[in-house]
Amino acid sequence: MAFYFSEPSRTFSEYLLVPGYSSKQHMVSNVSLKTPITKFKKGETPKISANIPLVSAIMQAVSDDKMAVSLAREGGISFIFGSQSIESQANMIKKVKSYKSGFVVSDSNLSPDATLADVLELKEKNGYSTIAITEDGTSKGKLLGLVTSRDYRISRMTTDIKVTEFMTKFENLIYANVGLTLSQANDILWEHKLNVLPIVDDNQNLQFLVFRKDYDMHKSNPNELLDSNKSFIVGAGINTRDYMERVPALVEAGCDVLCIDSSEGFSEWQKDTIEWIRENYGDSVKVGAGNVVDKEGFDFLANAGADFIKIGIGGGSICITREQKGIGRGQASAVIEVAKARDEYFEKTGIYVPVCSDGGIVHDYHMTLALAMGADFIMLGRYFARFDESPTNKININGNFVKEYWGEGSNRARNWQRYDLGGASNLKFEEGVDSYVPYAGSLHDNVNLTINKIKATMCNCGALSIKELQEKAKITLVSSTSIVEGGAHDVIVKDNFQNKI
Ligand code: IMP
Repeated sequence: MAFYFSEPSRTFSEYLLVPGYSSKQHMVSNVSLKTPITKFKKGETPKISANIPLVSAIMQAVSDDKMAVSLAREGGISFIFGSQSIESQANMIKKVKSYKSGFVVSDSNLSPDATLADVLELKEKNGYSTIAITEDGTSKGKLLGLVTSRDYRISRMTTDIKVTEFMTKFENLIYANVGLTLSQANDILWEHKLNVLPIVDDNQNLQFLVFRKDYDMHKSNPNELLDSNKSFIVGAGINTRDYMERVPALVEAGCDVLCIDSSEGFSEWQKDTIEWIRENYGDSVKVGAGNVVDKEGFDFLANAGADFIKIGIGGGSICITREQKGIGRGQASAVIEVAKARDEYFEKTGIYVPVCSDGGIVHDYHMTLALAMGADFIMLGRYFARFDESPTNKININGNFVKEYWGEGSNRARNWQRYDLGGASNLKFEEGVDSYVPYAGSLHDNVNLTINKIKATMCNCGALSIKELQEKAKITLVSSTSIVEGGAHDVIVKDNFQNKI
């Protein structure tokens, strides 16, 4: 006879935290969000920890090298999407590992035959106001000039005017040659009151740009997540099909942690993949697995040797798996059961296998709930897709800015191997949608706000660490009527007033 769960499965919005006692010690500045990413034995420290419990989803629309650098700067980890060729994924990893903090390979470049219209289009597309004009329009081409918003006035110029007529020409630029330190570059920025300093090689080929704001950021990012060589830590998604070729390329590129990317992880394919990695690399290559939603799934992957285990089926914002296949489980119920299984496994074996709540986070407080329910860290797609740093286009729809966000199981991504358990069926069907999300600005500003909210709630619960939150949290179910009580109610909110009359 089929097994029935006695309770309906629940989502984060059905819960709230009940505050506990907070002493004067419980201040945001005293909270640490450091959290383990990979498994460790009792009494030992994990090989990889994050300084904030946020990782970005293994998705084309979310995690490329740029996202990875920006998130590692804040203390989290990106898992660069695997639904691309092995070569291009390994190149993204190499870019992150060779990124010299503060030295940026220019993302916005045009050739000399471009016009003001091209400048405006590029600026709108990727949000950068500094554009390098290089001979061949590439990031490493011969530098002919720079265009910033100070170089043009839209009201006084026609958009077909060539960039060469208004750019600041190379001969008038202050630049430096490769080899100087970040601190030396910063001295030049200050001395000449510049916002950007181009760095060129002996042949005048552009190598990097150093921005004043990046230098400030570097100084003000105490949470940066670096390896022992001072390179950013980065992860990558793999699949259960081409791992024998993909894993060596990613390891060679310097990837710190891998994760098998699949909508359903309780499978022999995942076990085989982990076993192959252990046979070839022992414990030196770290690999997470998933996704699972119950104790049985957790135990299977923990016994198979996974370094961390991801939780969540069907809860992602772009996900239609539950509609298409009728499988899944409310994310809160899944996290609660799997976190309990993790603790039991630790008790029994002395090995702590961190668990990650993946998908379905809508509000910042959902993150605090996920942590309180036992998640060691949280994977987010929609959340990061909204920021400047995500790899997708920013689009203006009737004056509202949005960014594109599509599922790995949509026809756009065509990441079918994530869904077919390693088989080769030709009958593919979509498990994700292609969508827009509201544009939200910079990752730095948003993540800092989110982290402050999480820390403030933890203080309300009398906790200064995630472990303490998990021990002390008092979590209550809420009724649908009390959810109404939780928002502004029975008042006319001023922001909406004009639209209503
Ligand atoms: P979000 O943070 O709610 O947007 O969820 C992101 C998560 O959804 C990812 O980390 C994946 O686990 C999952 N996901 C990504 N693409 C798809 C898809 O096409 N269908 C179902 N789930 C997906």
